[in-house]
Amino acid sequence: MTSTCMKPDSPRPALLELRNLVKRYGGLVATDHLNLTLMPGEIHAIIGPNGAGKTTLIQQISGAITPNQGSILLDGSDITQLPMHRRVALGLARSYQITNIFSAYSVLDNLALAVQALSGGSMRFWRPVVTENALFEQAAAIAARVGLAAQLHRIAGSLAHGEQRQLEIGLALATNPRMLLLDEPMAGMGQEESARLIPLITDLRPDIAVLLVEHDMDAVFRMADRISVLVAGRIIASGAPHQIRSNPAVRQAYLGDELGDELSGDSSGELSGEGDDELRDNTREAAK
Ligand SMILES: Nc1ncnc2c1ncn2[C@@H]1O[C@H](COP(=O)(O)OP(=O)(O)OP(=O)(O)O)[C@@H](O)[C@H]1O
Ligand SMILES: [Mg+2]
Repeated sequence: MTSTCMKPDSPRPALLELRNLVKRYGGLVATDHLNLTLMPGEIHAIIGPNGAGKTTLIQQISGAITPNQGSILLDGSDITQLPMHRRVALGLARSYQITNIFSAYSVLDNLALAVQALSGGSMRFWRPVVTENALFEQAAAIAARVGLAAQLHRIAGSLAHGEQRQLEIGLALATNPRMLLLDEPMAGMGQEESARLIPLITDLRPDIAVLLVEHDMDAVFRMADRISVLVAGRIIASGAPHQIRSNPAVRQAYLGDELGDELSGDSSGELSGEGDDELRDNTREAAK
């Protein structure tokens, strides 16, 4: 195709857009006039020190808490006031905590129940799950997608920690989402388990966009298409991983922190909570 045939570039619409979002806890501004987009099919990582407001942000997007100001748009429609289940129906999923897994049920049953919850009205509860072949086919396909194809008949409670996190992601996928919110999916995992999770998350592209909060910097820099750095409720930098690595404001903000090493390609350290106050002060200066 020659350039004369091409239409002029038009900006791609964001799947998710946060506009001027504010969340206050008393005098504390946990989300401070924050703007953010998630493009279709991208993995956008939010990094930042303990207490930066990452989980608060995820909770506002999922609908668990309501912002004090600003708006949340999904495909251009305002969802700021919608309850969680309406957001799920629109394709927004959040990875559930391990407590949402039925630990006495098999992997397959857990996933089948999650698929059924999405597809059925309450009447479906009267019918035994075992007769629902289609449900089990879908459940098995999701299990394969999250790397649990060989564990279908294992009791969920007997899975290793990493496998339970994989199942959590499977439960979120059962809602057939267009975007997935993941808050520290690698928390408590060993290196091997984290390494197994990385391709599972990156393979969700391009169907599913992921907003990823994660302290494992090595994993973040390997997975993310875009990284935003959140400090004291504000995004101080946003860009491709190589841009974040070399961003002067980020480097200044994390000077002396383990991310400083990571940004220099030194180690796979986690963001430390230590020195956060100093870090915040530096960053506020850097962000000015
Ligand atoms: N329910 C709440 N009531 C009062 N303050 C809260 C509440 N939830 C969070 N905070 C405060 O808001 C700030 C942001 O917390 P948040 O949990 O979002 O941080 P985070 O970036 O997820 O941290 P971490 O990396 O430790 O998970 C913190 O100062 C926290 O103490
Ligand atoms: Mg958190």
